[in-house]
Formats: sequence, C-alpha cells, structure tokens
Amino acid sequence: MRRTVALAFSGGLDTSVCVKWLQEKYDADVVTVTLDLGQRDALSEVEERSKLIGARNHYTIDAKDEFVNDYVFPSVAANALYEGKYPLSTALGRPLIAKKLVEVAEREGADAIAHGCTGKGNDQVRIDVTARAMSPSLQVIAPVREWNMSRDQEIIYAQKNGIPVKPSKSIYSVDQNLWGRSIESGPLEDPFTEPPADVYEWTASPEEAPDAPGYLELGFEQGMPTRVNGRKMDPLGLVEYVNQFAGSHGVGRIDHVEDRLVGIKSREIYECPAALAIIEAHRDLEKLVLTRHELDFKAQVERQWAWLVYSGLWLEPLRAALDRFISTTQSRVSGTVRIKMFKGTAAIVGRSSDYSIYDLAMSTYNRGSKFDQKSAVGFIELWGLQSRVAAALSPEVEESQEIGHKRTEAKEAE
Ligand code: ARG
Repeated sequence: MRRTVALAFSGGLDTSVCVKWLQEKYDADVVTVTLDLGQRDALSEVEERSKLIGARNHYTIDAKDEFVNDYVFPSVAANALYEGKYPLSTALGRPLIAKKLVEVAEREGADAIAHGCTGKGNDQVRIDVTARAMSPSLQVIAPVREWNMSRDQEIIYAQKNGIPVKPSKSIYSVDQNLWGRSIESGPLEDPFTEPPADVYEWTASPEEAPDAPGYLELGFEQGMPTRVNGRKMDPLGLVEYVNQFAGSHGVGRIDHVEDRLVGIKSREIYECPAALAIIEAHRDLEKLVLTRHELDFKAQVERQWAWLVYSGLWLEPLRAALDRFISTTQSRVSGTVRIKMFKGTAAIVGRSSDYSIYDLAMSTYNRGSKFDQKSAVGFIELWGLQSRVAAALSPEVEESQEIGHKRTEAKEAE
C-alpha cells in the first residue's frame, strides 16, 4: 500500500518540487496543507497549483484567529523581542503549522509529515520539534535537507516533471504572516549594504511618510490590545488596522544581525508595524501599573520566553510555566496608551490606567507634595550602609581618593 505524507505547501518552487519528489522517492501519496496566517497570498491559486502538480488532496486552513489569540497575543504579554529586536513573527507561526500538519496527517491516515525548510535555518527545528512532541510516531521528512539540489537543478527537475515554474517574483526569500514579514538573501547578505527600497512592501519609507504625525490610542484589557481610538476591535481586525496605520507612517522596519539556533549569524530584515507599535505600547503601560520588582523579574522571564519560542521549544513545559507567571502579572495591565507616529518612529506620548501606581501627589516637583523629603535622610543612611563600610576597607577606593586629592592639590597649586 502506498503511504501518505502530509506536506506543508506554499506553492513556491521548493514545496512544488517536494510534491513530486515525495511521490517518487518515498512512493507516497501527498496531501498538501496551506495555512492562512494572514500572509496576503492568493490561497485559491495555491490550491489549484497543488491539484495541478498531482497532490491527492489539499487543505486550506484559515488559522488567523487561532494564530492571533493563542500565539501572537501571548507574545505581546511577554513583550517578546528576540535579541531585543525581532518580534518572532515567523517563529510564532511554525508551531501552529506543525500542529495543523499533525491534525491533517491523522485525518488522512498519513504516517509522515513533510516541509520545505532547509537544513540551515530555525524553521526546520520549530516544525520538527513540535510535530514530534505532538505525535512521536509520525516521521518528519524534510526533502530540501535531503536532496541537495541547487535552485537551477530544482527548475530542471520541475520542468522534467511537468511542474509549471512561475518566474520568481523576487530575489529575496520572504516569509510573511499577520505579525510581520521576514526578508532574507540577495543583496541583504552583505550586512554593510543598506536594504534596497524594493525589500519593503508593508511600510512607507520614512522619507515618503506623511509630513504630519499620526496619533493612535491603543486600549488594553488585562494585557491584550482591545481598542483603537476608543473603539472596540476584535484581535484580528485590530492587528490588521495597526499594521496598516503604523506601516503608512514608516513604522516597523527592523534591520539586524541575528543569531540563528544552528549557530549561523544572518542579516535579517523585517517589517512588523503592528508588532513593534503594540509591544512598545504594552511595555509602556506595564511601567505605569506594575511594581519595580515585578518589572525587574518579568524582564528576565520575557527574555527566556522569547528564546524558547525562537529556538523551537513552543511545547517545552517551561514556556507554559512562564506563561502562567506572565498572565498573573497581566491582571492590572489595562489602560490606554497614546502613540505618535512620525516618519518611521513610534513614540509613546501618553498613558493612563485605573490601576496606575503613579502618584502625582508623590512625584510632583510643585510644593505641597505628599512625599516627606525628610524621610529620605534616614533611608539614604541605611541604603548606603554596606557601600560605606566596604569603601572604607577597599584599597582601590583609597587609591582613587588619593588620585582625587592629588588632582585637587595640583589644581590649587596652579
Ligand atoms: N530569521 C527569522 C526566524 O528565524 C526569519 C526566518 C524566515 N524564514 C524564511 N523561510 N524565509 O524566525
């Protein structure tokens, strides 16, 4: 009996060749699976292409809501930016793709799943690890990792096998979903080269962005963005709106050198307008409502959370445990943040919350503050206690005091 393989299918050259190659090499029937994660591709064309190449069946799965609710919004609560920069857009989508592949494999009686990831990136790790954790008996096949064909060889293979080759739209390797666009390769591989204008599709160049700033008020409830300019919006609609608005002001471009899990350093360009604006606003609101101790500890948790997700360990129990800590902190993260967008920047210019622990009566510089300045004296006495004792014993401090004295003497002598 021929075996069945469920293949993650984008309709591009790699995954198109995968269909035929799996049929030939693994004597398999291929069922293709395409998720709609808000990547703005023509998914009916992808389905037609799958049928044309000879897949036994095709699934187009609208996973946008699940993606936003179960993957993207938890990443907002975690202020997740890998290496301080990358909002994990591609990384968050992979475990969901793996999950859907496993579900289709079960429904179709497949004994393997397959994907078109190369052996040099993070995506293979994310899909393999998640799928195998969910269903240990399923085999994972990554044809691109096995076949070792160059792009030209793939084109020849496609032509031989009656796979129509579309002229490639771009010289870049692009992955996109509603949380962002990742762009790699071509001229971007030289980290000293400024990205050419044509890498960007979701953001206006700051030079061409409107000359007047645009303001956006984002409302949060328990850590989740729920309102734009006072109007309630569903999660998906909200992300799409902010992507559009922030992108039109040139907000969302990221250019950095990133450490891949497999050890390679790579130059990455991203366009993540909604992600950057929403995370920045969320982080700012947290500073108004959380204590310094909560913020301090949460920053460590956030770093760990982003690392786990980046490195393919979505199903690692630690991630769930960190999520429980994070969600406890979010009970007071409700309020409104004002963002001013202007030619590529998103500046937070206002924040308010019913749970604010900012106390004007304490912090004001005006007379009449409730804060008793005299109590600072005793506080400083105790706060500096150990530093004073240690300083008195330390030769370094003596030396630096001596140098200080000498300088003063020299000055006085002048
Ligand atoms: N470096 C990013 C990440 O690891 C983006 C990967 C983009 N993937 C792609 N197939 N072009 O998440």
